[in-house]
Amino acid sequence: MTARIQPQPGIMDIELYVGGKAHVDGVSNTVKLSSNENPWGASEKAKQAFRAVAGNLHVYPSSDHAELRGAIAEIHSLDADRIICANGSDEVISFLCQAYAGEGDEVLFTEHGFLMYKLSAQGAGATPVSVPESNRHTDVDALLAAATENTKLVFLANPNNPTGTMIPESEIARLADGLPEQALLVLDGAYAEYVEGFDGHAALVDTRENIFMTRTFSKIYGLGALRIGWGYGPAEIVNTLHRLRGPFNVNAAAMAAAEAAVRDVEYTEKCHAQNSQWRDYLCEQLNALGIPCDPSNANFVLARFSSEAEADAADAALGAEGLIVRAVKSYGLAECLRITVGKGADCKRVIAVLAAFKESWAA
Ligand SMILES: Cc1ncc(COP(=O)(O)O)c(C=O)c1O
Repeated sequence: MTARIQPQPGIMDIELYVGGKAHVDGVSNTVKLSSNENPWGASEKAKQAFRAVAGNLHVYPSSDHAELRGAIAEIHSLDADRIICANGSDEVISFLCQAYAGEGDEVLFTEHGFLMYKLSAQGAGATPVSVPESNRHTDVDALLAAATENTKLVFLANPNNPTGTMIPESEIARLADGLPEQALLVLDGAYAEYVEGFDGHAALVDTRENIFMTRTFSKIYGLGALRIGWGYGPAEIVNTLHRLRGPFNVNAAAMAAAEAAVRDVEYTEKCHAQNSQWRDYLCEQLNALGIPCDPSNANFVLARFSSEAEADAADAALGAEGLIVRAVKSYGLAECLRITVGKGADCKRVIAVLAAFKESWAA
């Protein structure tokens, strides 16, 4: 490549995102528990809506996403005009960074926060700032202490990935009220549907000018393959973000499936109940095996081993049995493995393999 063609400063410092593994060499019949996908898949109604789009593939999708925004607003009791849909919530995160952070600006996120906050901040030319957590929990005082006159965005997932921990709404409100006035607090609700009776802090968004919420169809709705997410916030912020998106940033199949999925409340509730049952099983069993695990609020658990070497060996033992989990070294948690809650039989297999592993490791 000619040396004259150069990217913007900082672009080559952005690490390439590495997703959860999907294969283990030499092992067939694997079970993927590495990307927090819904093991029960998408609702039948969503699949039907997806298939129905096949007859109209030559037609451009709606560019205002009105039907999907209407459905989301109806189900979640929100204002449809303040919803923006995007190619995954990753895209909303990227729009927020492009719109509100540039050179000299700081983007804050928590120590074990979702990697895309850092990568998107760097992509916008801003300075990413990682803020310490307290025992794998978001530390509001640390965030407030880290905020400066240059802080433009503060990203916080509640529940957080990969820790699965959550802080109470009163703490979120305290954070929003204490931030400098030029900073926008972004509450990432990718796992909100896994928390009983939780609105992802939508009500807080409605009472503050400095809070924005992101949500996704990739987790409980089982539509990760289609790339669709959304954001909700103050009208001026939504209006700003619309200027950054392509007119057809969300495809027709994704919108049709997402609309059917969000309306299929019965199926969502079923997935929620199954997840709670097997998540609690995993947590209890891991703790009983001497593998500590914080109570999780999401669709995964974070298993803590005594060392990176033990976590690597446990990862290999699970992989050899076709159980693919996520090493989280890139999240600063080298001694941990993140395990997505699978179907009951798969959760039992995870525990059986780890029980045998623990015995051999101790021996
Ligand atoms: C906390 C968090 N936010 C956002 C996302 C991105 O979701 P999407 O598939 O909507 O881009 C993920 C995906 O793993 C996540 O864990």
